[in-house]
Amino acid sequence: MSAMASLLFHLLCCLTVFWLLPLPSHSADPDPLQDFCVANLSASISVNGFPCKPASEVTSDDFFFDGFTQEGNTTNAFASFLTPGNVLSFPGLNTLGISMNRVDFAPGGINPPHSHPRASEVGVVIEGKLLVGFVTTNNVYYSKVLTAGHMFAIPRGLVHFQLNVGDGKALAYTAFNSHLPGAAVVPLNLFASSIPNEVLTKTFQVDADLINTIKSKFRP
Ligand code: GLV
Ligand code: MN
Repeated sequence: MSAMASLLFHLLCCLTVFWLLPLPSHSADPDPLQDFCVANLSASISVNGFPCKPASEVTSDDFFFDGFTQEGNTTNAFASFLTPGNVLSFPGLNTLGISMNRVDFAPGGINPPHSHPRASEVGVVIEGKLLVGFVTTNNVYYSKVLTAGHMFAIPRGLVHFQLNVGDGKALAYTAFNSHLPGAAVVPLNLFASSIPNEVLTKTFQVDADLINTIKSKFRP
């Protein structure tokens, strides 16, 4: 290859890399192609997202959601309750690339370690005292105790949790750059799924009795 051809080849490689670099920053939900696309959750065809309900059938109610007016029932093993305001409960969010959750905590309640495969998360504490933490892919742990008015950010895909460390109830609202961020809840993924015990005993280097004890906590 001549020096000129080699120079051109390298230039082309550099241009390709520069062209591809910004793509990951656009990898949240795709941009909408129309003003709105209220989800038809019962459509028989399946697409990436949900098909739109005909615009002629869209009403004001499609753009309002009262699911956060009620406190969540925290009488459960985690002593917390998450009320989702995503495309499944609020179809008007379809294709808008945004959603929210209301998260209620009884004293000592935990929103257990989980990650959102399709979104970064921000949150604001409205009431109480929450320890909010996340862990990077290098196992570096970042955390802080937050009270009313404090906000937090969780980078996309990283494992995180909130623990009520106050004396009373706590309440937070969270928001996502996806209409359906998804949540992989670590203890449920591992111990409420049908992953074989052999995988778990080898992974955690403990015996089957311990795995069965943990699994029994997550059986209905
Ligand atoms: C909190 O972590 C939430 O996912 O709402
Ligand atoms: Mn979360």
